[in-house]
Amino acid sequence: MARVLRATEAQLEAALRSLRAGELVAFPTETVYGLGADAGNPAAVRRIFAVKGRPAHHPVIVHLCGIAQLRDWAREVPQGALRLAQRFWPGPLTLVLPRAGNVSEAVTGGQDSVALRVPSHPMAQQLLAAFQGGIAAPSANRYGRLSPTRAEHVREELGAAVSVVLDGGECQIGLESTIVAFQGGRARLLRPGAIPAAQIRRIVAQLQVGADETSPRVPGSTSAHYAPATPLIIVPAGQIESRAEALSAGGRRVAVLARRAPLAAHPSVTWIDAGRRARQYGHDLYDNLRTLDKSGCRRILVQDVPDAPAWAAIADRLRRAAAGAGREDAAEADAT
Ligand code: TXA
Ligand code: MG
Repeated sequence: MARVLRATEAQLEAALRSLRAGELVAFPTETVYGLGADAGNPAAVRRIFAVKGRPAHHPVIVHLCGIAQLRDWAREVPQGALRLAQRFWPGPLTLVLPRAGNVSEAVTGGQDSVALRVPSHPMAQQLLAAFQGGIAAPSANRYGRLSPTRAEHVREELGAAVSVVLDGGECQIGLESTIVAFQGGRARLLRPGAIPAAQIRRIVAQLQVGADETSPRVPGSTSAHYAPATPLIIVPAGQIESRAEALSAGGRRVAVLARRAPLAAHPSVTWIDAGRRARQYGHDLYDNLRTLDKSGCRRILVQDVPDAPAWAAIADRLRRAAAGAGREDAAEADAT
């Protein structure tokens, strides 16, 4: 069993001891919980991949205590990147930059770039300040699954594999950081997150959006990712009731994540009204999907979200969570 820690001095010491021994420490950030290892210890970083079941060539983010450490990890810091770091760090922004010579391949997945971020969660700051080195950390979930936003999520999913879980309560944002890569003089938004593209553009006007064939790999930007185990389908608001009814034929349970209350109660439908405010919806998203995933339902129907900047990161995660469910759904429709 993982120990549950609050960051008292003694608990912080235990986390530091684990990191220095090459073990894994889960810790809270303002976005989601991270599964951390000493970024300067390739064997420790490889342990992250083993625990997550993540393919070895996928790079991980190195978390730093402050902007002063940037040049220990990046050999080049373009003006735009520096200005973004000054504006948004500590905070939910990850910068992908040309890597410094000492950064191991375990961290970069063999690429010439490294992803760097300074998180703002006080407990993450406390840990990083005390550790002094970089902490490599992907989200603390199994590969492809929902990111954890509470310490319980980490314990449920990764349990004994993590020597220490620092419990910093619920993550304030609940969605992963915005990722901006700088390559060949260009800035590119690789993953939408809490910081909208418009705010990045105020500082880097030439921001391009989405990966191209020369972009560094971002596994969360391909195929099914951020997904519950239960197949998830996105449906327009007006079709939720009819789809839920059709799927619940024979008394089978169906889950709904909506932005409104149901028109009428239905005994086979587990309904969460996640509200109309993007910030709150995003904060609750993974926790709500976990709840629905555990509810024994055969499908999760998600009401589509507005096509608006405040909803961009949420829409992105829902699309990826739904990827892969389509084929299964069609097969089942044929069979029933
Ligand atoms: O909010 C977050 O970013 C959280 C917290 C824990 O910091 N971390 C997180 O890590 O979401 P992860 O590994 O689940 O997602 C990070 C993404 C991955 O898609 C990875 O491929 C990408 O960042 N990434 C890491 N290094 C990269 C690099 N050198 N080039 C391009 N993408 C990179
Ligand atoms: Mg992840």
